[in-house]
Amino acid sequence: MNTVDAFIDQNKDRFLNELLDLLRIPSVSADPNYKADVARCAEEVKKRLVEAGADKVEICPTAGHPIVYGEKIIDPTKPTVLVYGHYDVQPADPLDLWHSPPFEPVVKDGMIYARGSADDKGQFYMHVKAFEAMMKTNSLPCNVKFMIEGEEEVGSSNLGIFVSANKARLKADVVLISDTSMIANDTPSINTGLRGLSYLEVEVVGPNRDLHSGVYGGAVANPINTLCAMISSLHDADGRVNIPGFYDAVVELSATERKALAEAPFNEKEWMDELGVAAVKGEKGYTTDERCTIRPTLDVNGIWGGYIGEGAKTVLPSKAFAKISMRLVPNQKSDPITKLFQDHFNKIAPPSVKVTVRPHHGGEAAVTPIDSVAYLAASKAMEETFGKRPIPTRGGGSIPIVALFESELGLKTVLFGFGLDSDNIHSPNEKYGIFNYMKGINTIPRFFKHYATMSAENA
Ligand code: BES
Ligand code: MN
Ligand code: MN
Repeated sequence: MNTVDAFIDQNKDRFLNELLDLLRIPSVSADPNYKADVARCAEEVKKRLVEAGADKVEICPTAGHPIVYGEKIIDPTKPTVLVYGHYDVQPADPLDLWHSPPFEPVVKDGMIYARGSADDKGQFYMHVKAFEAMMKTNSLPCNVKFMIEGEEEVGSSNLGIFVSANKARLKADVVLISDTSMIANDTPSINTGLRGLSYLEVEVVGPNRDLHSGVYGGAVANPINTLCAMISSLHDADGRVNIPGFYDAVVELSATERKALAEAPFNEKEWMDELGVAAVKGEKGYTTDERCTIRPTLDVNGIWGGYIGEGAKTVLPSKAFAKISMRLVPNQKSDPITKLFQDHFNKIAPPSVKVTVRPHHGGEAAVTPIDSVAYLAASKAMEETFGKRPIPTRGGGSIPIVALFESELGLKTVLFGFGLDSDNIHSPNEKYGIFNYMKGINTIPRFFKHYATMSAENA
């Protein structure tokens, strides 16, 4: 065993316990009730970076939640890796579906159950521990900068401002992010793309107050019925999004690119069984894997209105609401798509209701290269620790800052994720394997080593 691996092995219990402590802080960025916890989590991340050996560690306030920055510059002539992650988490709701409280981590059957275990505390903390291991064994081979933010789950808009204002401080050669998933623990893969996002909320208003559904029902537009009809009209019979212009900017993948992506192993039957669905559904002409990654989508994330308490209440509601997300693919820009939706939704509203569309946040899609020195270093590192070369795959989720790293800082990213799609991120009973956590900590120093060596050879 080399010295870094030996150090990691000797400290693995402490590494696990430190993560569990971090998971006890409910750093929910979306909910203002948790603002103090988010701030406390930033303090904790700062402390951990200092302890691991980082310099210039600082909590950088923003108009929203703070960003934690730290760095170790061993030699300005050597390459610099910018590690990005997020310490904020999604709300834990619905709480009654958790088998144990979301912020009281439980280790069971090799899994760490807690909100944020995989997304992204468990994953960014692998970098802090890998860094500590390299520092303590005197083997950090190049410079590293850490930027761990608290607003990824709400769109990273303040981070965008911070990045533009701190270009010199963030100067680096590549961005390294562990916030995505792999195919399986025995089938490593590296995401080479992320989808963009347009998220908005709609409100449909009918009569000026809730009405008796017997006295008025049948003669006044019911905003829930109307909203449902409007939403169902947003897909056609082929599962395509029925908004004029929605696909205009989409760049179709070539047959060769689609063929390469289809080589990744995917068992649709197992996938369906794991989700408990009896059939798949989606855009005609694309495989399930393609529908989840390289195709744009429109989904209702929540819908409400009227009476939803115990028992029955006969009411014709005044208002209905829905939250809607559209996942976007490269070249489809978030703001214009939001505008298309807005115009279309207003246009299809019948005169019997008033419609308001309120845009939330968005982000652009990104694709990352598979021929860069950094990608090859990541691939080699994974090949060593997994015994198999990772397969490049496209991811379906969004990390809005990745496109900005490229446009603002001219930096490419390596999406060095160690999670699994079955980790239940954003769902009840989120989990992260100790296998994955430790595999990440062992693999990251190998990335640094190969990246430093291969950059020097290429210089
Ligand atoms: N880590 C996820 C993104 C992700 C997960 C990418 C799995 C690829 C595979 C990230 O924290 C996330 O959830 N992003 C949000 C976007 C944000 C603007 C709310 C998302 O994708 O919904
Ligand atoms: Mn994440
Ligand atoms: Mn997330």
